[in-house]
Amino acid sequence: MFSRAAVRSLTASRAFSTSSRRETKVAVLGAGGGIGQPLSLLLKSDPLVSSLSLYDIRGAPGVAADVSHVDTASEVKGYAADQLDAALEGAKVVVIPAGVPRKPGMTRDDLFNTNASIVRDLAAAVGRAAPDACILIISNPVNSTVPIVAETLKKAGVYDPRKVFGVTTLDVVRAAKFVGEITDKNPTDTVITVVGGHSGPTIVPILSQTANAKGVSGEVYSKVVHRIQYGGDEVVKAKDGAGSATLSMAYAGAKFANSVLRGLNGEKGVVTPTFVKSPLFEDKGVEYFSSNVELGPNGVEKIHPIGQLTAEEEKLLEACIPELKKNIEKGKAFVSQA
Ligand code: NAD
Ligand code: LMR
Repeated sequence: MFSRAAVRSLTASRAFSTSSRRETKVAVLGAGGGIGQPLSLLLKSDPLVSSLSLYDIRGAPGVAADVSHVDTASEVKGYAADQLDAALEGAKVVVIPAGVPRKPGMTRDDLFNTNASIVRDLAAAVGRAAPDACILIISNPVNSTVPIVAETLKKAGVYDPRKVFGVTTLDVVRAAKFVGEITDKNPTDTVITVVGGHSGPTIVPILSQTANAKGVSGEVYSKVVHRIQYGGDEVVKAKDGAGSATLSMAYAGAKFANSVLRGLNGEKGVVTPTFVKSPLFEDKGVEYFSSNVELGPNGVEKIHPIGQLTAEEEKLLEACIPELKKNIEKGKAFVSQA
């Protein structure tokens, strides 16, 4: 799970004096859920986490008691529904998988009415109790919940655009796996940049920039792009009413959290796609966009341009932009109209 670079960075940090070593508290809001539980377990195994704070409106103390027996150095504490601010105190990274998942026949946008207020209230608490924290938003619809968090922090006067991230890593994980399958290559060697947002047509995989994926064309190309864009539906359908992706999402969430932690620890060259406040398509009215982002000691260090696209990828991007704009505006309006 953790790259050699992560382990190297830990080893390096051990060589530092105690005063320069970073003690990183990570909080999970929604830790009792389908994603929250395995994500908490994976974070317990991350050597860059020194303290793990698990919060949910139900069940977090039990999850914490369980996870706390894992034989890694970090401390784990669970918090009950009325202990949100205490759970957040001192957190440098806050991961939010709180909210309801889809059932068959629903879009992610159908979750807006329930999840918007959950995410807004949690963001307000982060603004109050851990205003410097990096916030990693998993709750759907990500295209709208990220602007909700940003607008809520703006209202509280503590918004730092470098520290608010929509977690789109599952799209990157799926792209590597699905393209690896059809090209008979190891997914680890088939890293594909996925840009845009996190829902159907807003998910834009860029196969042309990955050596192992360049040859994919025609019907095979169309099918794999569709599978990456609608991979979430595959899981929702298979779970048949019992929710959406949880285990692969926990894996992806832990992977992204590890990248953020490596950046915070000063490691150079940590680059991965994530949905952030971005200048790339501002001229088209799109304020947030996922593209490769370099992570650093303050969160977003540098937003990479998307680079050269094929005509097919340009078409995907054209379809992404208006839908993404609509989703972002909906999130912003929710906070401004409150
Ligand atoms: P789940 O129902 O199993 O768990 C959600 C948890 O959130 C529950 O334990 C619930 O008690 C908790 N919760 C609800 N309101 C809360 C609040 N105010 N404060 C704290 N906790 C609260 O759902 P899940 O399968 O874990 O999915 C969670 C969210 O993640 C959904 O919105 C889902 O669509 C989304 N998701 C996103 C991605 C992605 O790629 N970004 C992938 C999969 C799922
Ligand atoms: C996913 O991509 O699996 C998640 O966004 C959950 C969903 O609703 O599909």
